[in-house]
Amino acid sequence: MKVVLGCDHGGLNIKNAIIEYLKEKNIDFTDFGCYTEESVDYPVYAYKVATAVAGESDVLGILCCGTGIGISMAANKVKGIRAAVCTNEFMAEMTRRHNDSNIICMGGRIIDEATAVKLADIFLSTEFEGERHTKRVDMITAIEDGTFTL
Ligand code: RB5
Repeated sequence: MKVVLGCDHGGLNIKNAIIEYLKEKNIDFTDFGCYTEESVDYPVYAYKVATAVAGESDVLGILCCGTGIGISMAANKVKGIRAAVCTNEFMAEMTRRHNDSNIICMGGRIIDEATAVKLADIFLSTEFEGERHTKRVDMITAIEDGTFTL
């Protein structure tokens, strides 16, 4: 498994904390920036991470902005991306188990660094359950592809 990360200035603190955790765990990662607290545009980093994750079954993404919301909206515009904003441990676990999310999005102005590391750890170590959830994830893909019918 490989991890790709990105953030804007609002998420830099929690992304850096997660990177320290990944180094401690010897988890392979690529950090697409940003790297300073200078104000930047979150769609740039959402796009870089989302395009690295899309279509790659062994790559998961971590995106951080002020709230996690804007960067998730941008990432979800890339085909094949299921990016989920998570603020607690239950959300981080369930979005892998039920939604097969491939990117977790978090907010540096919403959660502290220790919580962000915990949510990243849960997200990266939880598997998709499949079974009845596969049909529902396939329906999301059909909406994206324009083939969804009621
Ligand atoms: C940047 O100020 C802020 O708008 C951004 O980090 C994010 O919260 C957007 O959703």
